[in-house]
Amino acid sequence: MTDMTGSRLCGGSTDGSGGHAALVRTFDAWAAEGRDASMERGHGDVVAQVVAKLGIKPGEQILDLGCGNGWATRLLAKAAPGAGAIGVDASPKMVERAESLHSYTIRARYEVAHFEKLPFNDKKFDRAFSMEALYYAVDLDAALAELARVLKPGAPADVVVDFHGENEASRVWADWGKSSGLAMHFLGRDEWGRRFERAGFGSLAFERLIDSRGPGDPQKFRADVCEPDWETRCKIHAAGSLWIHGVKAQ
Ligand SMILES: C[S@@+](CC[C@H](N)C(=O)[O-])C[C@H]1O[C@@H](n2cnc3c(N)ncnc32)[C@H](O)[C@@H]1O
Repeated sequence: MTDMTGSRLCGGSTDGSGGHAALVRTFDAWAAEGRDASMERGHGDVVAQVVAKLGIKPGEQILDLGCGNGWATRLLAKAAPGAGAIGVDASPKMVERAESLHSYTIRARYEVAHFEKLPFNDKKFDRAFSMEALYYAVDLDAALAELARVLKPGAPADVVVDFHGENEASRVWADWGKSSGLAMHFLGRDEWGRRFERAGFGSLAFERLIDSRGPGDPQKFRADVCEPDWETRCKIHAAGSLWIHGVKAQ
């Protein structure tokens, strides 16, 4: 929730009314404050580690759930010749940012949509990816069912989260989420696995990923509600991201 330069990514409204309205309010504000770019800096190292291992094939059509300003969507689309990616995000301002950063040489596009009701036909995508987004789902089971619906049988889903049960220090983020009206699902790998299986995914695999740049510069560290001190910041870095891999049943 904090980028590698120490800029705070956490914090938000305190008048949350919940549901998608709270998501839109929170992440529209983040986009307006330029935190979309901070997320790219903060998440870039771990996402590069994952994308390098995905083995994206030429021509694959990829879904990026919770695309923010679309930086990872574009990375996925560039990973193989002829590949294309669509990023979805509930926040119109994030999607506006994504469109403003669009390059005509990359097959990427963006849609304002909710995870729980994706505007795509059944079995459209060859794979799905998501970085630091799925735990915000208003209805996680519905989001996973939608994810399964739009994937082709045998297609992989690779979901990365920093807020997870094996990262105990990240648990405090839920307080910020609550004050912003956001439902943040704090799940460990076993529970993530059960949820994915219930939605029709198999071949579950998990990996922990550590940002190779370290916890950042202590001189630039600024405490906030999500990282109240440097020690917490270091614990969150050391626990790393949880990569959940599942394959839609044939
Ligand atoms: C922490 S940001 C991560 C953005 C991007 N993946 C990145 O790494 O820069 C989470 C994004 O997921 C989106 N999001 C969260 N829950 C959503 C939902 N239920 N439906 C659609 N988008 C959602 C938010 O609007 C936000 O832009």
